[in-house]
Amino acid sequence: MTLLRSEALPEDDVERSLRPRRLEDFIGQETLKDQLAVSIAAAQSREEALDHVLFAGPPGLGKTSLAQIVAAELGVAFVQTAGPALERKGDVAAFLTALEPRAVFFVDEIHRLPRALEETFYPAMEDHCLPITVGQGAGARVVTIDLPAFTLIGATTRTGLLSTPLRDRFGIQHRLEHYQQVELARIVRRSARLLGVEIEDGGALAVASRSRGTPRVANRLLRRVRDYAEVRSGGVVTAAVAAAALDLLEVDQAGLDRLDREILRTICAKFGGGPVGLSTLAAAVGEEQHTLEDVYEPYLLQLGLIERTPRGRAATARAFAHLGIEPPAAQLGLL
Ligand SMILES: Nc1ncnc2c1ncn2[C@@H]1O[C@H](COP(=O)(O)OP(=O)(O)OP(=O)(O)O)[C@@H](O)[C@H]1O
Ligand SMILES: [Mg+2]
Repeated sequence: MTLLRSEALPEDDVERSLRPRRLEDFIGQETLKDQLAVSIAAAQSREEALDHVLFAGPPGLGKTSLAQIVAAELGVAFVQTAGPALERKGDVAAFLTALEPRAVFFVDEIHRLPRALEETFYPAMEDHCLPITVGQGAGARVVTIDLPAFTLIGATTRTGLLSTPLRDRFGIQHRLEHYQQVELARIVRRSARLLGVEIEDGGALAVASRSRGTPRVANRLLRRVRDYAEVRSGGVVTAAVAAAALDLLEVDQAGLDRLDREILRTICAKFGGGPVGLSTLAAAVGEEQHTLEDVYEPYLLQLGLIERTPRGRAATARAFAHLGIEPPAAQLGLL
């Protein structure tokens, strides 16, 4: 079975302990939460399974947490797998036939589900049945297995990679956006409470402001800042302690880490500001293409430091300013 990226992290247990369990613990994404609460209440009053749900958005914004929360709010079983872990039709059948009525079946990274398996999901999602072929050759026939009503929750970092027929079968679709600083500060304070870390409001804001809009990053930075506070300043995380710790971690004022800056420097210095193709860029910084696309690019785009052009990625004037590099004359003409 393929390990999920997030599950391969050593600090996984800590991360799990910080997961919000109920909708009321989930901070931010207010519109999404309101809409979800209505869908959940309606399904419950009708005593039906909730419609299938798709959560899309960059890594670490809370898709897995929300899927678990939906199951908890509905009071139903939660069964989890991931697109790459499903290889054969039998893998899907094994999960689906074992589901309890109205259970949540969570498929993480659903965009990485093999195309041939998507069709297995269609009748299961629409009619709660699973046609399977028994026997071979002339004697082969199709037997239909009835399934309990269930809720499929798909999570994806890339909606663009999902086929339209699959996407259209999700009655409820939500996109998670990067978090505001005040929301991240609340998440940091909540996590600090759970971890038993003493943190001042200024300290929480300092961590939040460099967390690239992402709760997982906020929690990770908080743990590193806690280490620093314990070793260097008696344990209390003040704004100054947080700033010093983050400087030491090479996370800059804009929340960019070393690889972010390496990406910018590569486009600006090596490729004259770009445009440069994604694969060339990935090779130049020694990182996987999909990591650049999923993790790094969205934030750099959001800050207006890079642009996507038909010929590749280009640095903006702001990127040159951030690095303190003089833009080449040609680039100035472009911008
Ligand atoms: N809204 C939130 N409130 C509080 N904590 C949150 C929130 N969203 C996420 N977190 C924290 O961030 C961590 C990462 O969230 P989660 O694993 O749900 O993200 P994800 O979108 O599934 O990421 P990936 O795409 O990498 O699987 C969680 O462990 C949780 O502690
Ligand atoms: Mg996840």
